[in-house]
Amino acid sequence: MLDQPAAPRRVLVTGGAGYIGSHVLHALTDAGIPAVTIDNLSTGRRAAVPESVPLVEGDVGSADLLDRVIRAHDVDAVMHFAGSIVVPESVEKPLAYYRNNTVSSLTLLDACARFGIDKVVFSSTAAVYGATDRVPIDEDTPTAPINPYGASKLMTERMLRDAEPAHGLRSVILRYFNVAGADPAGRTGQATPTATHLIKVACQALLGRRPALSIFGTDYPTPDGTCIRDYIHVSDLAEAHVLALLHLRGGGESLTLNCGYGRGASVLEVVRTLEAVSGETVPATFADRRPGDPPQLVAGADRIRERLGWVPKHDRLDEIVRNALAWERSLPG
Ligand SMILES: NC(=O)c1ccc[n+]([C@@H]2O[C@H](COP(=O)([O-])OP(=O)(O)OC[C@H]3O[C@@H](n4cnc5c(N)ncnc54)[C@H](O)[C@@H]3O)[C@@H](O)[C@H]2O)c1
Repeated sequence: MLDQPAAPRRVLVTGGAGYIGSHVLHALTDAGIPAVTIDNLSTGRRAAVPESVPLVEGDVGSADLLDRVIRAHDVDAVMHFAGSIVVPESVEKPLAYYRNNTVSSLTLLDACARFGIDKVVFSSTAAVYGATDRVPIDEDTPTAPINPYGASKLMTERMLRDAEPAHGLRSVILRYFNVAGADPAGRTGQATPTATHLIKVACQALLGRRPALSIFGTDYPTPDGTCIRDYIHVSDLAEAHVLALLHLRGGGESLTLNCGYGRGASVLEVVRTLEAVSGETVPATFADRRPGDPPQLVAGADRIRERLGWVPKHDRLDEIVRNALAWERSLPG
């Protein structure tokens, strides 16, 4: 009898029912890469997970659950999205953030070490840089987080680096700037009604699902006085994850990479783009600056292109905003 070809091994995606994880599951599925996801559905939704991907409902901080899933699905790599993501909440509940972001990551990395899983793609954040005034912010900028959220993520970065010489665990750490937009095919999007992302909130305000958008600070040293951020389309970000996984599966070395386009848009530019795309007015009010908001956060974004061959396909602000609005309209009001 001829030998059957070995079934391809699966990637364990934690937090695959959430905003970014669900886009990555769709990108993996589109690329024919088998996956399994663990999600406790604290902010995620079952419906966001593609039908072909097994969803194991449970907590990524449970070593028993991780053991069962890794064994049952022949996992060879991990993509780690599960976590808590709201910066002001992390200031109110720092220990909850260290538990869910840092301690759960420790449990996950410990499982990787025990099972010999040697490839991890980790969702980090530009918040590890803190309130830097560098423009753009490249990956060699010193890290100095100013809130527990950023610190909780930086601690996981450190664990990953320390685990490499001891356990042979290679990683791609992706530091996201401002993730926005939705799947152009409408399969998934940001569905947390209380999300704090500007483009999401502006779409909700436009559709009358939130009070007016508050624009915090109009006297920043920027061309129109409002804050500038580097918005990256979530589908381009998802593609970067697939490339990072292929890099590690191909034997590639550990990398730390910013995820952004290397250019920013101001709050007012975002609002005007949304108005142009929709033909409607975004109800907005002007408020004082929020403490801790730097005028500009723009990624130094050359390294990810050089090291992963990443070429963004959705990097126009009008496309990001159009996809976000279409997704928002598709949600029950
Ligand atoms: N959205 C952004 O702009 C942004 C920016 C930088 C970094 N990140 C990082 O990207 C990752 C994903 O963010 P998102 O925007 O998709 O958030 P999200 O809240 O939509 O997704 C997080 C998912 O993880 C699940 N989850 C949370 N804690 C869990 C646990 N203990 N066990 C199992 N599942 C758990 C949630 O149910 C949810 O499905 C996070 O790690 C976040 O820190 C996001």
